[in-house]
Amino acid sequence: MALDKTISWDLDLIKRYDLSGPRYTSYPTAIQFDTSLSETQLVESGQTTTDTSAPLSLYIHIPFCAHVCYFCACNKVITRNRKKAQPYLDTLYKEIEQVAKWYSDKRIVNQLHWGGGTPTFISDEQMAELMNKIKQEFNLLDDDSGDYSIEIDPREASYETMQTLRKVGFNRISLGVQDVNPAVQEAVNRIQPTEQTAAVLKSARELGFKSINMDLIYGLPHQTFESFNETLDTVVAMSPDRLSVFNYAHMPDRFRSQKHIN
Ligand SMILES: C[S@@+](CC[C@H](N)C(=O)[O-])C[C@H]1O[C@@H](n2cnc3c(N)ncnc32)[C@H](O)[C@@H]1O
Ligand code: SF4
Repeated sequence: MALDKTISWDLDLIKRYDLSGPRYTSYPTAIQFDTSLSETQLVESGQTTTDTSAPLSLYIHIPFCAHVCYFCACNKVITRNRKKAQPYLDTLYKEIEQVAKWYSDKRIVNQLHWGGGTPTFISDEQMAELMNKIKQEFNLLDDDSGDYSIEIDPREASYETMQTLRKVGFNRISLGVQDVNPAVQEAVNRIQPTEQTAAVLKSARELGFKSINMDLIYGLPHQTFESFNETLDTVVAMSPDRLSVFNYAHMPDRFRSQKHIN
């Protein structure tokens, strides 16, 4: 939702969408995975799409993170060893080549999203190479008219990295923030000064990114109504174009780092 000064509350719309939904960060979302679909059916479904000119949406997952945030329920690999990225990318390139064969090359990619983990864990050169590979295999728009977005951990995004991302074709970013309160940040093992987040947002604006989202989570340790209100004030003062405000999902049996959170 665009952060506009005039807010109109449409009760019917609110009622229609007042449901639990999957977090946007996984595509397809976990509940859509279905083991009854065979590989042959998957390939056929790509090849026999009725409307071969329909645009495509691509999702690329980069699972690595250098540090663990205790609340995290994403599909990730925590490592400081940056060398782990290249073997993953080599396998990803094979998958890109394979999947690209299933779809007509007439189909334009009008939506591209890189998520994680932390996509900027890989080097600027690796990001440029990955984008080149996608461009070789798929029909990407080269006039900045597609929605090409990437998830950014502001702790892992220098100005040079932001320049690289814009240069290779991204025009939307999503910044992980969660909460700006120091006690909350300490409790979830994610120390992220607000100035660092603001600097990445500023560079994104300078570089012409069209849409800047911020992720927040409510339900984290030490949060109170007042403290989260302060987080919202701080975030709104930075003027992002969108906010994704997630309800903390606590599943310590599946995500062991959540055991740090009582
Ligand atoms: C892949 S991360 C975003 C990119 C980057 N790794 C970062 O943290 O800045 C996806 C988002 O999912 C949300 N998230 C992760 N674990 C969650 C949980 N247990 N409950 C609710 N939201 C969660 C966070 O808001 C996080 O920013
Ligand atoms: S929230 Fe982001 S940076 Fe933190 S562990 Fe999860 S994917 Fe990694």
